[in-house]
Amino acid sequence: MSAMKPRLLQNGRLSPALEKTLAEEFDTHPLWRESDPSAFLAQHGAEFVGLVTSAMVGARAPLIDVLPALKVIASRGVGYDTIDIAAAQRRGIVVSNTPGVLTDCVADLAIGALIAVARALPSADRFLRRGDWKRGRFPMQTKVSGKRLGVFGLGRIGRAIATRAAGFGLEIGYTDVKSQSDVPYTFMPTLVELAGWCDFLVLSASAGPDTRKVVSAAVLDALGPQGFLVNAARGSLVDEAALVIALQDKRIAGAALDVYENEPEVPEALLALENVVLLPHISSSTRETFNAMEDLVLANLRRFFKDGTLLTPVSTI
Ligand code: 8YV
Repeated sequence: MSAMKPRLLQNGRLSPALEKTLAEEFDTHPLWRESDPSAFLAQHGAEFVGLVTSAMVGARAPLIDVLPALKVIASRGVGYDTIDIAAAQRRGIVVSNTPGVLTDCVADLAIGALIAVARALPSADRFLRRGDWKRGRFPMQTKVSGKRLGVFGLGRIGRAIATRAAGFGLEIGYTDVKSQSDVPYTFMPTLVELAGWCDFLVLSASAGPDTRKVVSAAVLDALGPQGFLVNAARGSLVDEAALVIALQDKRIAGAALDVYENEPEVPEALLALENVVLLPHISSSTRETFNAMEDLVLANLRRFFKDGTLLTPVSTI
């Protein structure tokens, strides 16, 4: 008699390929298909030993609480701010994410967005398409090479951004919970100090209670009217209302954003501005990286149901 397949709850959509494999290898139930998820979980929640999700959807405490048999949460993506890790840990539920495989794509995007906003590339494209080039030159913009880059959060992604930036001759400073002795970059103890020092402030820190709205009006004022902000981390790191005012009043030169406070909603005020580059959370959205992330989600689930361990457990230290 074949072994019972583990019952898996799928919270949010995944790629058709991964959903097909999950359906073949596990007893998978897509919660998003339920017209009344609460009623479904009240009746069937105790059947699920695993949950599979993504960084954008996650698993908050109310969901974890109605899954009394849950043992593992596997998430596609490196961020886990949408997963209540404390609730999981209290229940002995292990959580996996997909770090590493998306580092290059996120770092590539951050550098691309930095150049795009400093050189106003989207505006230049619109300028040409409107036929404005026939009436005059596109306005001068800001040189990138040889300037100062400030990195907030020197983890895998922050380090990859810094490595790329060094290739542009950028002088690199950073701030993090502590200085790191294995890098040739300048450590600054506070974000305000880093913002006052750099020309480009790139956010690559994890999202959580400690980093919520750390990019405040004071940090933006320190960055100053020649400074640019790049956010490829999480919208929650930035006081979005303060950012809008700083951009409108040109208290910073510009911003390139791939993440927002309330995705996919983006403040109308940001949409109206020329000194911003706005991207729809695409930092890891390449075929190669999505495939690698989803392969890792599957590998974590297979590993867990084989021996109870994970390849990439969420590191909360
Ligand atoms: C996800 C993200 O990678 O990984 C993260 O934390 O922010 C996203 O880019 C993507 O949504 C896949 O789940």
